[in-house]
Amino acid sequence: MNHEVIVIGELNADLLLNEIKDFPVIGKEILADKMNLVLGSSSAIFASNLSAIGTGVAFMGSVGKDDFGSFSIECLKANNVDTSLIYIDPENGTGLTVVLNYGEDRAMVTYQGAMKTFSFDRIDTAALKTAKHLHFSSYFLQPGIAPDVPRLFKTAKESGLTVSFDTQWDPDEKWDLDLRGILPYVDVFLPNKKEFMALTGSDDWEKSLFELKDKSNIIVIKDGNNGSYLFDGNKILHCEPFLNTEVVDAIGAGDSFNAGFIHKFVKGLPAEECQKYANLIGAISTTAAGGTGAFMNMDSVREVASGKFNYNGDF
Ligand SMILES: Nc1ncnc2c1ncn2[C@@H]1O[C@H](COP(=O)(O)OP(=O)(O)O)[C@@H](O)[C@H]1O
Ligand SMILES: [Mg+2]
Repeated sequence: MNHEVIVIGELNADLLLNEIKDFPVIGKEILADKMNLVLGSSSAIFASNLSAIGTGVAFMGSVGKDDFGSFSIECLKANNVDTSLIYIDPENGTGLTVVLNYGEDRAMVTYQGAMKTFSFDRIDTAALKTAKHLHFSSYFLQPGIAPDVPRLFKTAKESGLTVSFDTQWDPDEKWDLDLRGILPYVDVFLPNKKEFMALTGSDDWEKSLFELKDKSNIIVIKDGNNGSYLFDGNKILHCEPFLNTEVVDAIGAGDSFNAGFIHKFVKGLPAEECQKYANLIGAISTTAAGGTGAFMNMDSVREVASGKFNYNGDF
């Protein structure tokens, strides 16, 4: 197997509706002028884009035995992600998110399907050893595996892997997660600012960072068009964004950011370099539709990086 990173997480297709004339109203029909079916889910977008920018990736997760499942797997394969470890669930459908896009913001409805029952016992823990890094995303969308996430991270660490973690949003907004128990196993924690404040139960995110310093390793906080913050246990470092003022959509910006960070992290580069590159990859993601649209080929990624964002560093 030819991969450095194993991604464990949810898989679904995204049905994107754009140029919608109005807001949905119960009992009425409204029209959208554009439609696209693309690979969705934070974990899959991360895996696909990380592979596209040159780090080998294998995916562990679950889809149903249906067209959306085949579609999701084909999309991953198209970007050379190893899909041989994906579990085909005979009982549940593949997850699907319907996305209603309104400018930079969006409303989403998700059917979880197979991602909901995917569990620790479906994971080939021996196969973890084939990689050097594990990334786990979307804790709250995967209740079947959530209780075993500490065990999963511990197993990965014992197998010599580094671990990164992005909880993503909790649709129930309960934020029931033992952050202090999990963070010691996490080398890179990658929430966005809103998620971090919800997880810590405080708007004073800078204070919360310092309160976690005995438990955490690297924490990177994503802050949309304000860039990102890196916390190494001692100081908070702000990295300015490669600002895109003509955002096509912000789907997958955070997942692309994560991919940029981990691409450099597995090469052993200093956290500040990982952060800068993460900002670049996040920004590039906002230049095309959907989570993976901007990463269809490396030539255009390089072109956008240098032409639009004046980035002429390494990839
Ligand atoms: N308009 C933008 N211009 C440049 N970079 C952006 C823009 N929006 C987002 N990004 C980059 O993408 C990263 C992730 O976006 P963010 O929206 O914070 O994450 P999430 O998708 O997880 O909510 C940001 O930290 C930033 O680096
Ligand atoms: Mg995110």
